[in-house]
Amino acid sequence: FGHDVVCIDKDQSKIDRLHDGVMPIYEPGLDSLVENNVRAGRLSFTTDLAEGIAGAGAIFIAVGTPSRRGDGHADLSFVHAVAREIGQSLSNDAVVVTKSTVPVGTGDEVERILAESGTPHRVAVVSNPEFLREGAAIKDFKIPDRVVVGTDSERARELMRELYRPLFLNETPILFTSRRTSELIKYAANAFLAVKITFINEMADLCEAVGANVQEVSRGIGLDGRIGRKFLNAGPGYGGSCFPKDTLALTKTANEPNSPVRIVDTVVEVNAARKKAMAEKVIKAMGGDVEGKTIGVLGLAFKQNTDDMRDAPSLDIVPALMEAGATVRAYDPEAMHEASKLMSGIEYADSAYEAIKGADAMVIITEWDQFRALDLDRVKRHRAAFGFFRDRRPELYGRLV
Ligand code: UGA
Repeated sequence: FGHDVVCIDKDQSKIDRLHDGVMPIYEPGLDSLVENNVRAGRLSFTTDLAEGIAGAGAIFIAVGTPSRRGDGHADLSFVHAVAREIGQSLSNDAVVVTKSTVPVGTGDEVERILAESGTPHRVAVVSNPEFLREGAAIKDFKIPDRVVVGTDSERARELMRELYRPLFLNETPILFTSRRTSELIKYAANAFLAVKITFINEMADLCEAVGANVQEVSRGIGLDGRIGRKFLNAGPGYGGSCFPKDTLALTKTANEPNSPVRIVDTVVEVNAARKKAMAEKVIKAMGGDVEGKTIGVLGLAFKQNTDDMRDAPSLDIVPALMEAGATVRAYDPEAMHEASKLMSGIEYADSAYEAIKGADAMVIITEWDQFRALDLDRVKRHRAAFGFFRDRRPELYGRLV
């Protein structure tokens, strides 16, 4: 957008690698975006917070808010710590913007912490949730469906309007709300999408039970504009760094004022059970016993175009198959390194075809595009049985079985 941006992190090695042009995560297009902006002199990296925020009009808090161990509440310790540090280091008036996904009322808390720091500078605290999908984050940022800004401060509103001004070209709606409303919009959006996925997952089971086709059901209902076609792909259960954590945190937030969100409670439960049940499905498809069998697993990341393994369905499915006595040979285009830190005993292959060579079954867990384009005649020559979680297209089955 042409703004000058300084990225600040406590992790020296991350900053060092960024200086060397090495991205800390795999995200398509990120390396060239970073490189171009560094070269243009707009983007820099530092571990020095005071130096990084000096002169900044807007300071974005984008630290993690993982599930707190034991109770599922969002862990706000990083948000609070960084707010404290900002308060102690400010050298000019600024708007502090919370990008991290935080429960309702966190902005009030950040405001209190900043006030307590005794800073003489004027600070307004804004909520500006992100709606980016991993793997499509750059596009989602540049062409968003909407931007949500929660603040009561006119000064902050003006600054945020100015920051997102480049989006006016595409006529992106910018929704100004109160801070609490904005914080809740983020959780409500993720929870709604999780509900949608879980709904179609249960429909998929029903389709299997009654001999219907879930992809056609998705299309049949999704073409109704009130329902919408997106997020109606059935799968082995949603995973990732957001939906599992945010749905759980929303149920916790809702229980406190005794205003439970029962539909989300159920979704959390159904999704967890689904991931566990997937291994059973494979075992059943293989005649009820996988002892001594080899299973080729394609895809380990929680979704395509990422190396992120957080809450990936593979973390439930693969260990359960190995516990049942199977040998698992897996291939993922990006996530094998991450997966090897979390699961042991998997044989890793260099390609999809290597993973299924001589295997008794092939299981596609993550819908990487390259798996859609597998040469099915070549696959067939490997004499594997087939379990498709995502591709239930009859023509594909027809060619394989
Ligand atoms: C999600 C939201 O889509 C973003 O809008 C939000 O900003 C982000 O969380 C966040 O809170 O930071 P993300 O977790 O990157 O983004 O990935 P999604 O594309 O939403 O997929 C989440 C999970 O749902 C994956 O396991 C995916 O395979 C699954 N999914 C998605 C389905 O099973 N079916 C679908 O139709 C869509």
